[in-house]
Amino acid sequence: MEALEEMVGASPSIRAVFDSIRKVAQTDIPVLITGETGTGKELTVQAIHERSQRKQGACVPINCGAIPDTLLESELFGHERGAFTGAVQQKKGKLEAAANGTLFLDEVGDLLPPLQVKLLRFLQEGTFERLGGQQTLRVNARVIAATNIDLKVAIGKNLFREDLYYRLGVMHIHLPPLRERGEDTSLMAMIFLKRTAAFYRKPIRGYTPEAIKAIHSYSWPGNVRELSNKIRRAVVMAEGDDITPCDLDLTCETVQPEDSLASLRVAHRRIEVELIVKAISLHRGNLTRVARDLEVSRTTLYRKLRAYNLEKLVPSPVDSSVTMSNHPEPLGRLLM
Ligand SMILES: Nc1ncnc2c1ncn2[C@@H]1O[C@H](COP(=O)(O)OP(=O)(O)OP(=O)(O)O)[C@@H](O)[C@H]1O
Ligand SMILES: [Mg+2]
Repeated sequence: MEALEEMVGASPSIRAVFDSIRKVAQTDIPVLITGETGTGKELTVQAIHERSQRKQGACVPINCGAIPDTLLESELFGHERGAFTGAVQQKKGKLEAAANGTLFLDEVGDLLPPLQVKLLRFLQEGTFERLGGQQTLRVNARVIAATNIDLKVAIGKNLFREDLYYRLGVMHIHLPPLRERGEDTSLMAMIFLKRTAAFYRKPIRGYTPEAIKAIHSYSWPGNVRELSNKIRRAVVMAEGDDITPCDLDLTCETVQPEDSLASLRVAHRRIEVELIVKAISLHRGNLTRVARDLEVSRTTLYRKLRAYNLEKLVPSPVDSSVTMSNHPEPLGRLLM
């Protein structure tokens, strides 16, 4: 797997996810991670592993949907010599490779029923046999599974075992789609732009107001991955100082209407965050100008930056992070 990338987010829903990550990382219990494509399931697994006592061990991924059914058992549990034609020597599976570490079962909904039984036994008893093997083996591996299908529906169709579902999902972390994370879209758009422009060494300063509007109106079906890809494209394509909707390849057909209803508190928060992010982009991080434009004092602005976890968007003196970090915040909570 790639190196741990920092998870970004400030919305209440993603902060709840960050809290769960910190809590489950301290334990060995299985975790089920659900969410649409590109919402950060793999990143979440890495975050849990890296923060766990098992971080010295390996985090071994296996994509149950990408491996042909005939090979999956051997990939996962290993095989003995002669277990099948071509099995010329004994081979350990991913489960053994994850000893003292974490086994990441991606697309777990694609596991066929016989393997579901074998996995259930491992989760209950910690034991298994290699394919074609007689010897019962024991391995200390933590299991984290992910899926973007609705396992309840699969259970209803008798495609997924209910008992396995409950075993895997002792802890369940659901990653909300980006379109439900409110201010996170602006926040990520700013952070990804900073990172990507630095990577490509392009002197891009921000977004045009139209681009900000387009980013907000788009529904992001591919979630964070799509946002990050579109920003990479935009940085490569951009010819001016600011990213335009055209650089982002956001066309009118993809624009969706505003959310229907939100509580006043949520709407208020979203509007404030959007205005602050826009003003910071417009004034390239000059907080005096941002405060003047928004008609608030600098003190109020700092307070709001901190409250909304937006400090990362501006250089110090407000020195904290909107990313998952291990440093305690003054209130004693951990920020992510
Ligand atoms: N909160 C986040 N902060 C920063 N980057 C993120 C965040 N969530 C996801 N990403 C980035 O978005 C991309 C997609 O994330 P990831 O691969 O974890 O998604 P996934 O849910 O596993 O998707 P899929 O279901 O398609 O496998 C990655 O490049 C990841 O680094
Ligand atoms: Mg994934």
